[in-house]
Amino acid sequence: MKADVLLGLQWGDEGKGKIVDVIAPKYDIIARFQGGPNAGHTLEFNGLKHVLHLIPSGIFHEHIINIIGNGVVIDPMVFKREILALEKLGVNPRKNLFISKRAHLILPTHRLLDAASEAAKGKEKIGSTLRGIGPAYMDKTGRNGLRIGDIFSPDFKKKYDFLTEKHKQLLALYNFQYDLKEHEPSWFDGIETIKQFKCIESEKYLNDAFAEKKTILAEGAQGSLLDIDFGSYPFVTSSNTVCAGACTGLGIAPNSIGKVIGIFKAYCTRVGSGPFPTELNDATGEALRKAGNEFGSTTGRPRRCGWLDLPALRYAVTISGVTELIMMKADVLSDLDTIKVCTHYNYNGEKIDFLPYDLTAFPLTPLYKDFKGWKTNLQKMSADTIPAALENYIRFIEQEIKVPVSIISVGPDRTQTFDRSGVLV
Ligand code: GDP
Ligand code: IMO
Ligand code: MG
Repeated sequence: MKADVLLGLQWGDEGKGKIVDVIAPKYDIIARFQGGPNAGHTLEFNGLKHVLHLIPSGIFHEHIINIIGNGVVIDPMVFKREILALEKLGVNPRKNLFISKRAHLILPTHRLLDAASEAAKGKEKIGSTLRGIGPAYMDKTGRNGLRIGDIFSPDFKKKYDFLTEKHKQLLALYNFQYDLKEHEPSWFDGIETIKQFKCIESEKYLNDAFAEKKTILAEGAQGSLLDIDFGSYPFVTSSNTVCAGACTGLGIAPNSIGKVIGIFKAYCTRVGSGPFPTELNDATGEALRKAGNEFGSTTGRPRRCGWLDLPALRYAVTISGVTELIMMKADVLSDLDTIKVCTHYNYNGEKIDFLPYDLTAFPLTPLYKDFKGWKTNLQKMSADTIPAALENYIRFIEQEIKVPVSIISVGPDRTQTFDRSGVLV
């Protein structure tokens, strides 16, 4: 068997959580492969709305095993909070949630270092979610990190104190004020909660699962344009959000990847700083934010909104070898008379159709093609009443990107999902 990978093709918040929850019943295992509590994945069903940060989006299906992979960075405080919230809803994640022993820990001082680093950058800040992601991955690649496996070691506290001391020296260099006592008790409580879960060699578990013909879906966080290597650096996150990240973040081989499912919004959003060629700083952008309820699921910050950007989408599809597309939030465009799609950029006086290395080095103007709006309330649509204008919009994207759109989503609820190619049956 092979593992399918589901990932975001833009700057995150494409609707990954919703779709993982919808397609989860087709899989035995859902495994998150990177990121951490910077993610906010929203699920809506039966009148319930729930946001997950660390826990994979298959958790509401009790027969599906959910795995937090080695590529994820875990904040025990957030983990405990998420478990309690699930238990309040009657979900018992102790039965079907496993954690990789190789996943790294986010310490309270990582969170403080994130805040100190952003404050020091001033206007140049990344716009981080301040969840300690960058500093935790820095310690991972710097070979100083603490892992889930370490929490079972008798000298865990000694290891924790050693790393924390180092962080305190860095915080002093930043001249950053803090009170660690505010953060440590809930963090150590979280460690005790994690100890009640099955902490495993998840790479072995997953490779054994292949042999047992089990089906696996690898769930990505963030989006391809926030990838540490291929995103708009330095305005990116600190992990590989592209398909290759599923191999390193779960310990599965490249030739065990099956479908690569790429998710994009029918327009674009970005939260935090960094270049955004098709951004709309006008009434249309404001209307999209309102209609799409574009406020961060993790931080509540307003998301920047703009038109769909095909050169950027094509780039993301190429890097990950996307085999099928899912288009989200078409309903948000329903009131517009005209919808624009960026097909090329005018970059330093030249017409190009690819994403250049530096989006800010030279003047860049997006070139648009206009589409007639569908002006139909899609949230009430059925599969056989897809408006011709919407079908036309989708066909154009398929032609340009050369990958089929298999599912369209027209509302936040599980049921507001349409299958164009029989993938859900
Ligand atoms: P994720 O991080 O990729 O899982 O996405 P988020 O949950 O951060 O953001 C997506 C937001 O859009 C959430 O509030 C979802 O409930 C909502 N959503 C998902 N799909 C649709 C859709 O098709 N239409 C509308 N209107 N909202 C959607
Ligand atoms: P999901 O999984 C949208 C953005 C932040 C910031 C940059 C770096 O819900 O799609 P970090 O906290 O990683 O240091 O922030 O990346 N960012 C996200 N934007 N969705 C996310 O996750 C994000 N996770 C991080 O806003 O610009
Ligand atoms: Mg999100």
